[in-house]
Amino acid sequence: DMPGMDDMPGMDMGGNDMAAPKNALMLPEGEPLRQLPLLVNEANTPGLFRAKLTAEPATARFAAGLDTPILGYNGMSPGPLIEAVEGDRVEITFANRIPGEASTLHWHGMPVPADQDGNPMDPVATAGDRTYSFELPEGSAAAYWYHPHPHGKTAEQVYRGLAGVFLVKPKVDPIPAEYGDTVLVFTDLRLAADGTMPDNTMVDLMNGRVGDHVLVNGQKNPALTVPFGTKRRFRLYNATNARFLRLSFEASMMVVGTDGGLLEAPIEADEILLSPAERLELIVTFDKPGPATLYTLDYDRGWMGAGRPADAGLTLLTVNVSETPAEPLPPLPDRLRPIAQLNAPVVSRRFVFTETMTMTATNMEMGFLINGAAFDMGRIDVVSKAGQVELWEIVNKADMDHPFHVHGTQFQVIEHERDGQVSKPAYLAWKDTVNVARGETVRLLLRQDRPGLRMFHCHILEHEQLGMMGIVDVQA
Ligand code: C2O
Ligand code: CU
Ligand code: CU
Repeated sequence: DMPGMDDMPGMDMGGNDMAAPKNALMLPEGEPLRQLPLLVNEANTPGLFRAKLTAEPATARFAAGLDTPILGYNGMSPGPLIEAVEGDRVEITFANRIPGEASTLHWHGMPVPADQDGNPMDPVATAGDRTYSFELPEGSAAAYWYHPHPHGKTAEQVYRGLAGVFLVKPKVDPIPAEYGDTVLVFTDLRLAADGTMPDNTMVDLMNGRVGDHVLVNGQKNPALTVPFGTKRRFRLYNATNARFLRLSFEASMMVVGTDGGLLEAPIEADEILLSPAERLELIVTFDKPGPATLYTLDYDRGWMGAGRPADAGLTLLTVNVSETPAEPLPPLPDRLRPIAQLNAPVVSRRFVFTETMTMTATNMEMGFLINGAAFDMGRIDVVSKAGQVELWEIVNKADMDHPFHVHGTQFQVIEHERDGQVSKPAYLAWKDTVNVARGETVRLLLRQDRPGLRMFHCHILEHEQLGMMGIVDVQA
């Protein structure tokens, strides 16, 4: 049996409905896009950000007249927006008020010390408190996020509502302030007829949970009004458990940043693919009056069993471009910042992702494995050295795409290989999550600068929970 199977509900396959419960609820659309409320800095010392985050049961109203029990940070989902500046010291006291469950605060993508990173090895028990503290190094400005990471419970705590945005701002920003800074957090919601969120089914565990509604900042297809000709900065977050978002905008898009911050130069894009946990920063120009929607295109990420959800043609956001022309705006600079390419790796490692599925008369055994093994909290999978550049080759031999993520650092993808064809990424970028499509090999360069235990895993959170995760011990 695979580890983690005891966490799985509904293992009896006999006559069980494999399909997710069908949702009949309609959600209101077209409400003004909500800005995420800021987490207030309680410190009055310059260079210090101090606040409290409580994970707790809360209520949301998604469908008219129905209360949905959720988990929220300070009562809300997505959680409050944390905004700090490079060089700041951060002290966040976490209160776990989730009944009966451990939790943690993981700072996804951030260069924080290993013992402050909310790993599954450092749980905060229910009713417990702990303070996370770390410094934001110079050059670390980027769109990060925070979410729980307790052993065996991450997927559920996230789909019940626990995820929030952590923006680290640079001291000097090359993107004109006139473009604004609009965060768009995508989450995925499934509601039963009574307004509650159903538990994960077998299908969810295999494919990762895909809901019935993709929300933006907690709203379905909200609306935003902008003047004609304006440029806006958007930070897109895929905070879903398992939904791949292939997106296009009825407006012109320039990609200016990835998980780890700005690119060297803006790159035009007609469409983008945001796999679970990835972020992109865009500058969008609204060059004609009328509605401009952000919508999904079809993307086949591999699906086990029947009932692959339709993911094309969903409208995520409607921008109403008015007839009034915008005030003249400063241009987008041609150069954003230099990115130093990581130098020659001294070690190379190979990680092979596989799925195993064994059906018996009464049972199904599933495994999501890295190099043939499921996650074991007591096992170190890789020992590496701080400050050393390594080549990591992620080989996907499975039938589904698996978004690969590693804690504690940002990496640079150097190659994709598929059917013997090698291609280079279109631009040099810092990333903490990269999709490894089925049958694909992705090669990346990475360097961990701080010692300690770091997780690496598939960011389809149900796969992470079922074993597709390992530990690297970074030694000083
Ligand atoms: Cu966003 Cu280990 O996770
Ligand atoms: Cu992470
Ligand atoms: Cu996966």
